[in-house]
Amino acid sequence: MNEIKKRPVILDGDPGHDDAIGWVLASTIPEFEIKAITTVAGNQTLEKVTYNARRIAALLHLDIKVAKGRNRPLCSDLIIAPNFHGETGLDGPILPEPDHDLSELSAPEMMAEVLRESKDKVTIISTGPLTNTAALLLSHPELKDRIEMISIMGGGLRNGNWTSAAEFNILVDPEAAYTVYHSGVPLLMCGLDVTEKALVYPKDWERIRALHNPVAEVVAGWFDFFFIHLNSLGWSGATTHDPCAVMSLVHPEIFDIKDYYVDIELQGRYCRGATIADYNGRTGNTPNCRCVVGLDREKFVDYLVEACSKFEGWEV
Ligand code: BDR
Ligand code: CA
Repeated sequence: MNEIKKRPVILDGDPGHDDAIGWVLASTIPEFEIKAITTVAGNQTLEKVTYNARRIAALLHLDIKVAKGRNRPLCSDLIIAPNFHGETGLDGPILPEPDHDLSELSAPEMMAEVLRESKDKVTIISTGPLTNTAALLLSHPELKDRIEMISIMGGGLRNGNWTSAAEFNILVDPEAAYTVYHSGVPLLMCGLDVTEKALVYPKDWERIRALHNPVAEVVAGWFDFFFIHLNSLGWSGATTHDPCAVMSLVHPEIFDIKDYYVDIELQGRYCRGATIADYNGRTGNTPNCRCVVGLDREKFVDYLVEACSKFEGWEV
C-alpha cells in the first residue's frame, strides 16, 4: 500500500464552537500531521480559549502541547463574542480536563519552531483573528518561505457579520489581517461568501448525534449551543464557518474557488475590517488570495458526519 503523504499543519484559533468542530475534522484527516495548536484572543479572552483548546486536545487524544498566543490585537482593543459562544467561549457539553501542560513557548514562537524544524513546508489553518500569524511574519520574516499556505476563515467579499462591512475575525484585528494579506504567502480564504452557505441544519447534526460515540455526541452538543443565538437571528441552520478552512484544503472539489486581489480596509468610518476584492482587476494587482465562495452543502455535511464516525469505540 502507498504511504499517505503527510501535510504538516498548525491549528491556530480561538475556540469557539466552530473552531472546535474544525479541529475535530482536522484530527480525522489522514493527510494531516498536526504539529501544534496555538490560541489567540477572539471569541473569548485568551485564558478562556486556551483552556478550551487544551480540553479539546484532551477530547481528541492529541499528544501535543497547546501554545498560548496574543491576548489582544496588534493595535486595537479586543472584541469578544460571548453572545455566540457563551461565557466560557465553549459553553455546552462537558469536556475532559487538559491532560498536557501548556507549552512554554508563545504561539508565534511555537509556530516559528515548527516552521524551522519541519522537513516540508507547513500549512497554517487560522480560524480566529490573524494576530499570531501576523506576529510570526513580523518577527520571523526569514521563515515566510517555510509556509505552504495560510488557510483563513475570515472576511466576506460581499458582506460582514459583525458590522455591515466586516466579518468578526478580520474586524477584531484588521492590522494583523493586512500584514497577512500583504505577506506574499499563498492564501486560501473562506469568508462569509462560503461559510454562510455551509449551513448545518438540526436534522444534519442529529445524524452526528446518532453515531453514539463520545466525540460525535460532543459535536452535536456544540451545534445545539451554537445554534441558539444563530436561530434567534433568523438562521434556520448553523453557519459552520471554521470547518470550511479545514475542509477546503482536503476536498477542494466540493467548493467554488476564485482568485482575486483582496485588501483590508484599515480606516473607514463604517468599513474598518472589510475585505475588499478587486473583482475586475482595476487595481492592476496580481491576485493574492484564493477565495472560496460557494460549496456543495450536502457533501460538506456528509464529510462532517463521516469525520465524526471515526471515533467509534472511543473512551473519553
Ligand atoms: C468567525 O467568528 C467566530 O465567532 C467564529 O469562531 C468564526 O471563526 C465567524 O465570523
Ligand atoms: Ca473562530
